[in-house]
Amino acid sequence: QAIYLKDYQVPAYLVDATTLRFELADDQTRVRSTLTMRRNPDAPSAPAPLELHGHESLELCRLAIDGQDLAATDYQREGELLSIAEVPASFVLECTTRIHPQTNTALEGLYLSGGMYCTQCEAEGFRRITFYMDRPDVMSVFTTTVEADKARFPVLLSNGNPVDSGEQGGRHWVTWEDPFPKPAYLFALVAGDLQHIERPYKTASGREVALRIFAEPKDLDKLDHAMDSLVNAMRWDEDVYGREYDLDIYMIVAVDFFNMGAMENKGLNIFNTSCVLASPQTTTDAAYQRVEGVVAHEYFHNWSGNRVTCRDWFQLSLKEGFTVFRDAEFSADINSRTVKRIEDVTLLRTAQFAEDAGPMAHPVRPASYIEISNFYTLTVYEKGAEVVRMLHTLLGPELFRQGSDLYFERHDGQAVTTDDFVCAMEAVSGRDLTQFRRWYSQAGTPTLRVTDDYDAATQRYRLHVEQLLPQTPDKLEKLPLHIPLSVGLLDERGADTELDGGATTVVLELTEQRQSFAFEGIKARPVPSLLRGFSAPVRLQYAYSRDALVFLMRHDSDGFNRWDAGQQLAVEIMQGLMADYRQGRALQLDQALVDAYAAVLDDETLDPAMVAKVLSLPSEAYLSELSECIDVDAIHAARNFVRAELARALEPALLRRYEALAPRCDYAPSADQVAQRSLRNLCLSYLMALEAPAHLVRARAQYDGCDNMTERQAALSLIAHSGFEVDAAAVLEDFYQRYENETLVVNQWLAVQACDPKPGALARIQALMEHAAFDLRNPNKVRSLISTFCAMNAVNFHDASGAGYAFLADRIIEMNRLNPQVASRLLTPLTRWRKYDEARQALMQAQLRRIQGSGELSRDVYEVVSKSLN
Ligand code: ARG
Ligand code: ZN
Repeated sequence: QAIYLKDYQVPAYLVDATTLRFELADDQTRVRSTLTMRRNPDAPSAPAPLELHGHESLELCRLAIDGQDLAATDYQREGELLSIAEVPASFVLECTTRIHPQTNTALEGLYLSGGMYCTQCEAEGFRRITFYMDRPDVMSVFTTTVEADKARFPVLLSNGNPVDSGEQGGRHWVTWEDPFPKPAYLFALVAGDLQHIERPYKTASGREVALRIFAEPKDLDKLDHAMDSLVNAMRWDEDVYGREYDLDIYMIVAVDFFNMGAMENKGLNIFNTSCVLASPQTTTDAAYQRVEGVVAHEYFHNWSGNRVTCRDWFQLSLKEGFTVFRDAEFSADINSRTVKRIEDVTLLRTAQFAEDAGPMAHPVRPASYIEISNFYTLTVYEKGAEVVRMLHTLLGPELFRQGSDLYFERHDGQAVTTDDFVCAMEAVSGRDLTQFRRWYSQAGTPTLRVTDDYDAATQRYRLHVEQLLPQTPDKLEKLPLHIPLSVGLLDERGADTELDGGATTVVLELTEQRQSFAFEGIKARPVPSLLRGFSAPVRLQYAYSRDALVFLMRHDSDGFNRWDAGQQLAVEIMQGLMADYRQGRALQLDQALVDAYAAVLDDETLDPAMVAKVLSLPSEAYLSELSECIDVDAIHAARNFVRAELARALEPALLRRYEALAPRCDYAPSADQVAQRSLRNLCLSYLMALEAPAHLVRARAQYDGCDNMTERQAALSLIAHSGFEVDAAAVLEDFYQRYENETLVVNQWLAVQACDPKPGALARIQALMEHAAFDLRNPNKVRSLISTFCAMNAVNFHDASGAGYAFLADRIIEMNRLNPQVASRLLTPLTRWRKYDEARQALMQAQLRRIQGSGELSRDVYEVVSKSLN
């Protein structure tokens, strides 16, 4: 039941206009559609049957062509397809369906979120609303009328502009018109008791736009940050890409029940509340930045996604990779560029590299899928963004901008492919990107093995680079990639060497499997700074000594590499300690790390956010990803040991900075303050590793005395995870009492408990599932409690008894019926079974098999389970 890219065919029919009428009425909801259709002149000439998509759950009430009702024998319904053997060359198709939003727990199509109607149609949710050619290359103008009870649903929204409305006998209706042709996946509808904030915006060319953000009345005071972010994003896209908004209204609606982060429906974005609501008292700095990034991401889709969309779902990265690159650059421009890069690379190197090494590995442009929802992945999004970034690096900013202008100009109003994007970049640069295209079709993370030599007599320094391409489940032969490798050479004082034409960083272009690069006139053996700014999504191997890493940490002019040198040093040291732990040897911390950390901690000239990043030890997840065979206990023990030893050695300095960084003014999510809080909280977390009552008092004072969620939540989790059990229980209780009515904060409360590494976590999670705060139907709650436990609490989840695995399998079996997309995502930790010891492998596989045999599986769960066991 797999679908293949190679089988793509243009649609046999086109839909010129789509008119929809929604009658929202509890279990009597009806959708009437009128489609103006015609044969596609670009399709092969023999008339093909008309094939419409429609989910099994659709009740077909009426189907008519040119006003003539069809009898049940005039069409065939099989699985998700309804086909009509013969239709005229052009015709009007009318269709009425009855649907059941009130029992829709899959949260695809039309559903209820806390009493309000909303939709999620990407990728294939529209077929749960009505029969349609539900494929992104079928684009149509939509006119939508929404009719509902006026008292319960005073606000009725859809894409575009409102053009008509009326009311009768307690019911009212509004008609919306969207002039831009769009695929069905960008359709949206909202009906509810909502309020909104509004701000006027004038585009560069003078169009007046009303920006509106809707939420439940209780959340109206948490929308300003999203609005500021939207305005900044609109301005940035005008300045940096020359892109303007194109409708009179731009709406965002916040909903509590949502499978993903947010959705870019034309003119009517629908957002998970977690990605739009923000207030100092309820939202951490990290969440503020996420809101800013996601608001920008969805806005940027208006061009990269909506005006120019995807031909088919294999091209998903065309819009997602490009849009993630765009939102990352936006965030880099308005916050700290280096910190943003560190965060993105951290995500890529832990989660995306793991995905690329697992059974679901796929290229940025997959060649086949069973369920497209399973391909909204880190590979399509984050690696896809890295591929666009590499084009930016290879072409330089000016040519890249010309390429993007050409791409938008050539393809405005079209549904195109990743290849069309690359073609535009080729056209403006005159470069041949044939080999570069392999990044789209080859799965797996390349490794660059780098060695060097230096000849003092000729003053020549050479780098030798080999690219190793891993085997992946598709078993395809891998060919060498075109890889931009950014490098600099540090002299003995730590200064950059001037290379070609005075530049201190050069981009080496790797195209062969093995290649050497020579640098002339190098006075002494340099220390190479490799892969500056993480110029390609690869694993880098170069045998740095610990001294060289310390040297780079101190001197590298590339901020990203300065941070990365510290990470490599810490990784190496922890890997040594993991081996000692397994052998039962006494652990001892290398003084080099203490000295390096002390120097960074004392450097008041550095941005505190960078200090916090440099002093943050690599996560357990990253250490796991780097392991051949993951030893969760050794990783946990080694990392905790290093943390406690650093805290012991640096206690006075940590305390000094903690005190010095105490807040002096009211909370603002400004870059300065965010930086200071991040370092202050990091200091506190080291201090708490000492398990000393004095520091507990300090943490509790921060918890009680602060005026914002960033400080309170940091203190909460440190106390809750500490060995001071009475205080832990007290602070958790206090937190719940304070925020009982703030859903998103309660979700954080669940997450803090889910990642508590103390023994007995599973029993606590099971108890929390019975708590009033938990709801299996709400994906945010499932992620906070269950995903957090499985992904962020390795020692408990991977308990040797296998109880964690059995618990997760039970949840997946339940969720498979309720919400297949969420169920499928929950599977991720089990898909990694090959990375564990034999006993755990057997336990994990047994649970996968139990899921496999548990009854009727959704396509989502079936695909991941069967590929994982294969
Ligand atoms: N296109 C959306 C975004 O990246 C995400 C799609 C949501 N998909 C879903 N199946 N819920 O912004
Ligand atoms: Zn997106």
